[in-house]
Amino acid sequence: MPNTTIYTIINQKGGTGKTTTAVNLSCAIAKKRKKVLLIDLDPQGNLSYWLGCGEIELSVGDWMLGECLLEDVAMSREGVDVIPSDMNLADLEINIASMDNRESLLKTALGQIEGYDYVIIDCPPSLSLLTVNALTASNKVIVPLQMEVLSLQGLDQIISTVGKIKDVLNPDLQIEGLLPVMVDNRRKLSKEVHDHISQNYEVNIFKSRIRTNVRISEAPSFGESVLSYSPSSNSAADYTAFAKEILSLNKKK
Ligand SMILES: Nc1ncnc2c1ncn2[C@@H]1O[C@H](COP(=O)(O)OP(=O)(O)O)[C@@H](O)[C@H]1O
Ligand SMILES: [Mg+2]
Repeated sequence: MPNTTIYTIINQKGGTGKTTTAVNLSCAIAKKRKKVLLIDLDPQGNLSYWLGCGEIELSVGDWMLGECLLEDVAMSREGVDVIPSDMNLADLEINIASMDNRESLLKTALGQIEGYDYVIIDCPPSLSLLTVNALTASNKVIVPLQMEVLSLQGLDQIISTVGKIKDVLNPDLQIEGLLPVMVDNRRKLSKEVHDHISQNYEVNIFKSRIRTNVRISEAPSFGESVLSYSPSSNSAADYTAFAKEILSLNKKK
């Protein structure tokens, strides 16, 4: 897929806004008339639940193994094609562990589809074989990060993991940026952490930031992105701005 940009959203910690970013960034990009494929690669299936995928017969695992076609597994939500996941994905991870091509199943599956401007992959909160598949298949990485001291601990590990995948499996992989999430402007500390990262790490921090807002945590109960659920919220504005930043970084011809 030469004209497709494939993004993995990672952070090995849970609860750092990966799924929130995957859902709302995808919907915000789709609103800009781009064709987006959103992949739930977390056996917890939070993304699939959020977008109301319900009980599924086929999941991303079947598609990665080449056992079904994209049109059989994908569901359309707010203009985004979503490939859902469920708990069975944890078994797949065990079953593929002994396969020679275990790291590249997702890459192979993605190589067979076309017509998308963006693919966005939501990962589990671990550096598992599923995450390795996502990184092997991707062009770029987005790391949602809370600007607090404890987040710094994980940052070295993320940078080192991406570096290893780049060396061994995917030479073109790059971290496009860290996305400050759950930002509370009243807290001075966030600015200090932000400054510490920009001074000590050679990694881009996106200009956009996602503020803390209760609307985000309400949206999954309604099966909608926050852009649909609460279009006038600052969360909808923040993810729309982030989508704009992503589009301008990619400047598709
Ligand atoms: N900007 C935000 N404002 C308020 N709550 C948020 C925000 N981003 C995420 N959350 C909440 O934080 C929790 C973890 O987010 P989630 O995206 O599921 O993280 P991850 O996928 O990294 O585990 C969820 O309950 C979610 O509603
Ligand atoms: Mg998640």
